[in-house]
Amino acid sequence: MALQNRHLLGLEGVSKEEIKLILDTATTFREVLERPIKKVPTLQGKTIVNLFFESSTRTRISFELAERRLSADVVNFSADMSSLKKGETLKDTARNIEAMKIDMVVMRHASPGAALFLSRVIDSVIINAGDGGHEHPTQALLDLYSIQEKHKRIDGLKICIVGDISHSRVALSNIYGLKTMGAEVAVCGPATLIPSEIEKHGIGIFNKIDDAIAWADVLNVLRIQLERQDRSYFPSLREYRKYFAVTKERIERAEKQITIMHPGPINRDVELSADVADGKHSIILQQVLNGVAVRMAVLYLLGTRS
Ligand code: CP
Repeated sequence: MALQNRHLLGLEGVSKEEIKLILDTATTFREVLERPIKKVPTLQGKTIVNLFFESSTRTRISFELAERRLSADVVNFSADMSSLKKGETLKDTARNIEAMKIDMVVMRHASPGAALFLSRVIDSVIINAGDGGHEHPTQALLDLYSIQEKHKRIDGLKICIVGDISHSRVALSNIYGLKTMGAEVAVCGPATLIPSEIEKHGIGIFNKIDDAIAWADVLNVLRIQLERQDRSYFPSLREYRKYFAVTKERIERAEKQITIMHPGPINRDVELSADVADGKHSIILQQVLNGVAVRMAVLYLLGTRS
C-alpha cells in the first residue's frame, strides 16, 4: 500500500488505512531511534529543503533529524537571511531553489494554504509543517502515534482539545485525524476561541474545563496564541488561567487516570500548570521523541513513492 497523494498538505481526506500505514511505518523507525547508530540509508541521494518562514523549535529540528537519520542531503532555508528581504516572492524563491535539483520541500508558513500554493508552482514533493491557522499534519500524526502508544488504541477513546481552537492548526489536523481513526472528540475553551462552525466536524463542546476533564481519557492542551490574536478574546491571562487552565488540583479532583498532551511551546502556568506539564500524567516529551519517528515515516513513504 502507498499514500494516495504525492504531497502531505493536511489530514483532511487522508484515509484510515493511510494513517495506519504512517503509524505502522513510524513504529519501525522508532526502533531505529533506539539503536546506537540511529541512521538508515533509505533516502540516500535525495535532497530535502526545509523552508521555514515562521519560527519553530520542535518541528524544524525534528524534520532535520528525521531527514539526516534517513541519510538525505538537507538544506535549511531561513527567511531572515534570504532574498525575501529584497522583495522576492515565495513562488520565485521556491522555483529558484528547485532549479538546483531538489526532491522534497518541508515548509512552515504563516499563511493558510501556502503549502497547497507551493504544490501548484513547483514539482517537488511538499510536506506542510504548519500553514497559518490551517493544518499541521505531522503534529497530528505524532499525537495519534503517542495516543496509540500510551492507550494501545485510538478507536473509542475520548479526546478533548483544550484552549485556543480558533487560531490552531494543531486542533484542525487533530480533529481530522482523530475522527478518521474512530475517536470521540470534543473541544473546550472560551466561546470566543471556538469557531462557530466547529460542530460540523461532529465533535462536542465543553465550556467548563472540569466537565472536559471528567469526560476525557486524553486532554490535548493548546497554547494560547497571543501572536495570532488581533483583538482580546478573554479579559486577561489571569482570567483564562482561572477558568480554563489544566492544573494539578483539577486533575486530582477528578480522581481518574488521564493523559496530558501539549504540542508545545507551552505557556507554563497559563493553559497548563508546570507541575502537570512535568508530572506523571504528561506524555509531552514522548510526543517530541515520537515526532522524529513519525516524520521519518512520512519522508520515507513520500520520498520513495513511485
Ligand atoms: N509543535 C510545534 O509545532 O512546535 P514548534 O512551533 O516549536 O515547531
